Amino acid sequence: MKLNTNKIIGIIGLGYVGLPLMLLANKKYKVLGFDINKKKIEMLKSKKSYISDISNKEIIALKNENLFLFNENLEQISKCKFLIFCLPTPLKKNYPDMSYIKKAFNKIYPYLKKNQTIILESSVYPGATEEIFLKKLRKKFKLGKNYFLTYSPERIDPGSPSLIKKLEFHNITKLVSGHTKNCEKKILNLYTSIFKNIYLCKSIIVAETTKIFENIFRAVNIGLVNEMKILTDKMKINIHDVVEAAGSKPFGFKKFSPGPGVGGHCIPIDPIFMKWVANKHKHKTKFIDLGAKMNIQITNWTIRKIISLIKNKRKCLILGVAYKADINDIRESPSIKIFKRLLKIKKLDLDYYDPYIKNFTLNKKVFYSKKVKNYGSYDFSIICTDHSNFNYKKIMKESKKNN
Ligand SMILES: NC(=O)c1ccc[n+]([C@@H]2O[C@H](COP(=O)([O-])OP(=O)(O)OC[C@H]3O[C@@H](n4cnc5c(N)ncnc54)[C@H](O)[C@@H]3O)[C@@H](O)[C@H]2O)c1
Repeated sequence: MKLNTNKIIGIIGLGYVGLPLMLLANKKYKVLGFDINKKKIEMLKSKKSYISDISNKEIIALKNENLFLFNENLEQISKCKFLIFCLPTPLKKNYPDMSYIKKAFNKIYPYLKKNQTIILESSVYPGATEEIFLKKLRKKFKLGKNYFLTYSPERIDPGSPSLIKKLEFHNITKLVSGHTKNCEKKILNLYTSIFKNIYLCKSIIVAETTKIFENIFRAVNIGLVNEMKILTDKMKINIHDVVEAAGSKPFGFKKFSPGPGVGGHCIPIDPIFMKWVANKHKHKTKFIDLGAKMNIQITNWTIRKIISLIKNKRKCLILGVAYKADINDIRESPSIKIFKRLLKIKKLDLDYYDPYIKNFTLNKKVFYSKKVKNYGSYDFSIICTDHSNFNYKKIMKESKKNN
């Protein structure tokens, strides 16, 4: 297909959100990718992927001349019709840290040109997009007339089977929003050509709040199923049997699986954005706090359970340290928290195996994934993250039982 070169798209931040988006948009448009991380740009230029959902083969589609180290190539920003921000928005002492977006925006500000559209994809607290961009943009442009501001939260689901198979995240309905009607038109024009289903939100703040609400919904429901897990464990009922049976109901129930806790850049973080906003409005959140508390408590409960089972065992293996199945992301991973706690047990020889995480650093020490020949060489194996490429039959057959 012939590329549309009238609309050059710039993507700032090529992480778990930005890189898949670049690959998708690159099918139709000329896309320039910017990242501050030199290693990532070098890897992309040598056609190597650093994201488990994306194969090296897919990277071939990106031209080296379109990949830039941010800071060094900012004049390229002026060439873009659309500037899409896919930057981190972590928590800093319980307040939303928007500094990555602000810093990048300040850097590119001198290179902004008339008739560009900014699209923010990061998860932010309600009100953040306009707070960050409007004041400075107004100094240089007429918003909605010769410059356009929009927001479209990302809903990508790393590790999901459809994503791994065909990078089909363009099928997920994309929320879009704009500061003015003309801003809405700009984002609709671009995103209807990239994504299959679009939902136009009534305003930017509605789109921002929706994204955070979706993650609160998940955090609260994961907390609920984990509370049920603790209770059913006491009652000697298998929670998985209960969830499976409840999942047969075609309405009023949504299946959430119990686990050792929550991780990643979204579920443990985004609900706290809303709590922070609520405090400003003198509202005390309840469900958000309870969900967050429960999702921390379940990791501690899991640790206590493991310790009570380990007793005098000497050699222990943790299977999976990523924060969820089939991805190479360890941010906020409960499995790492479990690993960290077990390290403190004197005389316990602790290894881990994760096909996606070759190594990680903890307390300034680097730990390496061990390829396991026979699970029987360990006294105890703990599946913390259920990657689908683990050989479960082999694990069950070889692992020692009840000793
Ligand atoms: N990971 C997910 O599953 C997911 C899903 C939906 C939404 N989000 C949201 O999307 C946003 C991005 O998340 P992510 O997981 O892609 O983060 P990430 O850390 O994987 O990617 C961010 C990228 O930005 C780069 N970067 C940082 N500062 C930069 C700068 N000044 N200029 C250029 N590049 C810079 C980093 O090097 C990194 O590659 C966050 O707000 C997150 O909450 C993430």
